[in-house]
Amino acid sequence: MAGKRFAVLTSGGDAPGMNAAVRSVVRSTIAAGGEAFGIESGYEGLLEDAFRPLGLGDVGGILDRGGTILGTSRSERFKSAEGVAAASEILKARGIDGLVVIGGDGTYRGAEELSHSGIPTVGIPGTIDNDVNGTDTSIGFDTALNTICDAAAKVRDTASSHERTFVMEVMGRDCGILALYSGLACGADCILVPEVPWTLADVCASVAQGVARGKKHSMIVVAEGAAHAFGLATDLSEACGHNVRTVVLGHIQRGGSPSGFDRILASRMGAHAVRALIEGQSGVAVGLKNAETVTAPLADAYAHAHTLRRDIYELAKVLAL
Ligand code: F6P
Repeated sequence: MAGKRFAVLTSGGDAPGMNAAVRSVVRSTIAAGGEAFGIESGYEGLLEDAFRPLGLGDVGGILDRGGTILGTSRSERFKSAEGVAAASEILKARGIDGLVVIGGDGTYRGAEELSHSGIPTVGIPGTIDNDVNGTDTSIGFDTALNTICDAAAKVRDTASSHERTFVMEVMGRDCGILALYSGLACGADCILVPEVPWTLADVCASVAQGVARGKKHSMIVVAEGAAHAFGLATDLSEACGHNVRTVVLGHIQRGGSPSGFDRILASRMGAHAVRALIEGQSGVAVGLKNAETVTAPLADAYAHAHTLRRDIYELAKVLAL
């Protein structure tokens, strides 16, 4: 291992805990006798040859910081075969022996392509969407969930004072896990996710159920991919005559200091990614399974759509009765 050069980048939507993962990759690499490099702005920065050496002190003070000190991007250029070939040449010219990418499914696709071009790559799941397979949870999901819970508690105070219904829109274009878990954690009356068809009548019925047992407020949590909060609020108010207000949490969910859970998860995954590279693994993603960090093929992590836990969806419905 001595003298090996490992690089790390963050890509796609940022997620709280990415910095903790970068810190872990850098320090684990140096502890094993290697050299660490950061690549700025994800794959876009890779194509610009934007490397910087990272020493032990360069990743000090970032464990509790949200966002990513490396910067991130959603690179269109890198999606082409030419882009991947150019990136691979840059990594080879730099003498990089292994690349750790931190991000979601788009990031993993890129890493898989790079591994076929002869660059050893390992992925770490960093996305608030928690929509990659091969892991029970991704870095940033727990923090985003807690951010939503904090916001929902504030919304509930004003909602019950005014006896109002609130529609709270959370992130998740194709995947409703964040909406489902936050809805369950906040006691939502109704949870709308892209994976499960719904009707306005269902939503009205859920709200009516709470009102019938004397509830002073109602909360509908909707994933951005299931409905737009403002349209839903208008329809709901017209259909059921409720006093409806709307909250769109937006990018607030992606920011903030990572939770203790995410810091530990990121630290463990970063170290595992470096171990995997040292062992000669490539084209794999680190995951958390049964409380242990493991690796599985990158392709398995993004090839199949992440499936929503229907048992948890049903539980949320039962507990909202
Ligand atoms: O991938 C994370 C995510 O936050 C999604 O939940 C959301 O749909 C998307 O990113 C928003 O992306 P952007 O910040 O590019 O608008």
